[in-house]
Amino acid sequence: MNAVVFSRYGSPDVLEFKEIAKPSPLEREVLVRIHATSLNEWDDGALRGEDVVNRLIFGLFAPKWNRQILGSDIAGVVEAVGHGVTRFKPGDAVYGDLSGRWGGFAEFVCAPESALATKPPGMTFEQAAAIPQAGLLAFQALRMMGPMRPGQSLLINGAGGGVGTFALQLLKPLGVVVSAVDSAAKLELLRELGATQVHDYAREDFTQGGQRYDFILDVKTLRSVLACTRALKPGGTYVTVGGSMARLFQALLLWPWIALVQRKKIRLLALKANEGLESLNELFEAGKLAPVVDRCFGLEETVAAFRFYGTGQHKGKVVITVVPES
Ligand SMILES: NC(=O)c1ccc[n+]([C@@H]2O[C@H](COP(=O)([O-])OP(=O)(O)OC[C@H]3O[C@@H](n4cnc5c(N)ncnc54)[C@H](OP(=O)(O)O)[C@@H]3O)[C@@H](O)[C@H]2O)c1
Repeated sequence: MNAVVFSRYGSPDVLEFKEIAKPSPLEREVLVRIHATSLNEWDDGALRGEDVVNRLIFGLFAPKWNRQILGSDIAGVVEAVGHGVTRFKPGDAVYGDLSGRWGGFAEFVCAPESALATKPPGMTFEQAAAIPQAGLLAFQALRMMGPMRPGQSLLINGAGGGVGTFALQLLKPLGVVVSAVDSAAKLELLRELGATQVHDYAREDFTQGGQRYDFILDVKTLRSVLACTRALKPGGTYVTVGGSMARLFQALLLWPWIALVQRKKIRLLALKANEGLESLNELFEAGKLAPVVDRCFGLEETVAAFRFYGTGQHKGKVVITVVPES
């Protein structure tokens, strides 16, 4: 089978498109013929060997032999199943997040059946590949904030990528007043998705504007966590899903002090892969949620897809089509 392999850390140029052996499923595994897969920040960080956590997972000096194919969000059709698999059979259309195991930038992958959900018939493979990781980061982060009342205010920092474009749609029915921060080119889309106020981060620092929010969802965590919590109302909650390791560490250190002195909450989300995917399925089928897919690339164009992702221009998700829909 064809796969996109990386055997050293670096820019997208280190990726090789090559033929490798097709995997066989173990007892509780499903062999999936991948139709589409999508890029996530984690793939980009792992490729570059950024930060100590990625080095610990993928290999200290070079990617380990069993971690050389990136790609965690996959959608495809079951080709074969191991003896112990009970939920799926060949021919079923499935999707899910294989983070922790990866292997999605390829024609086939073996996945534990627990990592897969049935793809609704009305969802394209490209849409399915765009949903799991970013959709569930948004879903789990909003759930972590607790109940929200209509009229409360929430700011999303870094709203124009995968997580933010899902979060905006999940917030729409709640009647929450949403402010969205991203680069200028993405602000019109953010308004269309339901943001009442939009802010260009290159021109305005939301922590300095004097506005206060009940909730802040931070997708990038590039600003000081202390400054971010100053932009919270008393009793407000700040949830970060990712960003600079130094800032995340700062958040960990500060949360007891902020809770005690300012009576505000800081929370760091650790993604539980695929938890809540059924809820996103239901929202999709009810027409209340649709992934924003910016561009689709072919598998052999994965280097170009990473380069495009690296420019930060993408709105919503970047998808790789492995088997074009007929
Ligand atoms: N918690 C976990 O367990 C877990 C697991 C997986 C991933 N993650 C994290 O989840 C996040 C993934 O988010 P995503 O898929 O939405 O990423 P994304 O698609 O790259 O979107 C991020 C957005 O932030 C914008 N941005 C860049 N710099 C900014 C700044 N200084 N201020 C405000 N916005 C800025 C980007 O726009 P421009 O590029 O145009 O500037 C982009 O639109 C990452 O932080 C990743 O590390 C967490």
